[in-house]
Amino acid sequence: MPVLRLSDIDVRGKRVFIRADLNVPQDEARHITDDTRIRASVPGIRDALERGAAVMVTSHLGRPKEGEFSEADSLTPIAQRLSDLLGKPVSLVRDWVDGGQWHRDLRPGQVVLLENCRFNKGEKKDDEALGARMAKLCDVYCNDAFGTAHRAEATTHAIAKYAPIACAGPLMAAEIDALTRALAQPRRPLVAIVAGSKVSTKLTILKTLAQRVDLLIVGGGIANTFILAAHGRIGKSLAEHELVGEAKAILEEFPGKVPIPVDAVCAKEFSAGAKATLKTLEDIEPDDMILDIGPQSIALLKPAIANAGTIVWNGPVGVFEFDAFAQGTRALGEAIAASHAFSIAGGGDTLAAIAKFGLADRIGYISTGGGAFLEFLEGKTLPAIDILEQRAGTQV
Ligand code: 3PG
Ligand code: MG
Repeated sequence: MPVLRLSDIDVRGKRVFIRADLNVPQDEARHITDDTRIRASVPGIRDALERGAAVMVTSHLGRPKEGEFSEADSLTPIAQRLSDLLGKPVSLVRDWVDGGQWHRDLRPGQVVLLENCRFNKGEKKDDEALGARMAKLCDVYCNDAFGTAHRAEATTHAIAKYAPIACAGPLMAAEIDALTRALAQPRRPLVAIVAGSKVSTKLTILKTLAQRVDLLIVGGGIANTFILAAHGRIGKSLAEHELVGEAKAILEEFPGKVPIPVDAVCAKEFSAGAKATLKTLEDIEPDDMILDIGPQSIALLKPAIANAGTIVWNGPVGVFEFDAFAQGTRALGEAIAASHAFSIAGGGDTLAAIAKFGLADRIGYISTGGGAFLEFLEGKTLPAIDILEQRAGTQV
């Protein structure tokens, strides 16, 4: 079903509330390590400003405790970067839900950033009353946060029911168009790489994904869970022990579709300076941590990547931020870049790895979605898109 688009709407003199996904990775000093999502949000904001709207933008950052402000999760560094990219001041507003002075002061052509929306109580539960109060702030609600489209939260879902107009921003629209086009009839073999350190949210969707793809390459904590399911050793590596049964069921139902790593780069501690030791799985000791896949595993995967028709990539296969454990992610990334397949990559850490290894211009399409991208691929209805479709039917 179609959605209304920001470009369809005359926003002159209107108050436009843009929900963006500015949830970017940061290092310990809170420096932004990859600003792809911020840059990708700029065209929507700029378009609304140039067409004479008064613009308010919000996003979540991390997963803070609701009902409390915390400096560590503040959008302060994001406001600065957004201001640099837009070339105009972007002030940051705290306690913004119930209007107040900032709301009276906001003029056409001006933009403010509203603090981390997950500081508001009820955000994650998609609280209706909160959504209704937020909707009062605007004439037009625009969701440009594809990366958060798989979450039904107050700023991605409830608000869309109550805003006078609810539409998709240009990034959201472009993502839906590109992914639909690539996945409706993918050139085969279709290879998916699903890895990274966030485990649960991904393992649960692997089963559906296994049905749609021809090869499912797993890495990171997900691979460790699969190694356990195949009776291998992982030492004290990150894994989800309660999901081993599920991993086992996938291996049985789809024989040969999920290759298990055969070697690994291990360390005794999780740090940039940790001593890296290459081991076959049989040699892994109880105090070892798997921090990357090894060269034999890479060699097994490379031909499948080279021969793929379509590749979707979500998540690094090792701790690529530490040079000693970056080789697996670098090698797979380079294989994807070199392949003739149409490749789609998504997810915050994946984008950071692509930037680090300089692969961006050799990837077919780079999505700002991580979890959203995977759920889209899985064929799920994303709640934030669903509500825009529903509203499109009721608006002129
Ligand atoms: C993401 O980074 O996947 C999105 O911004 C959503 O964040 P979340 O997983 O904390 O909901
Ligand atoms: Mg996520």
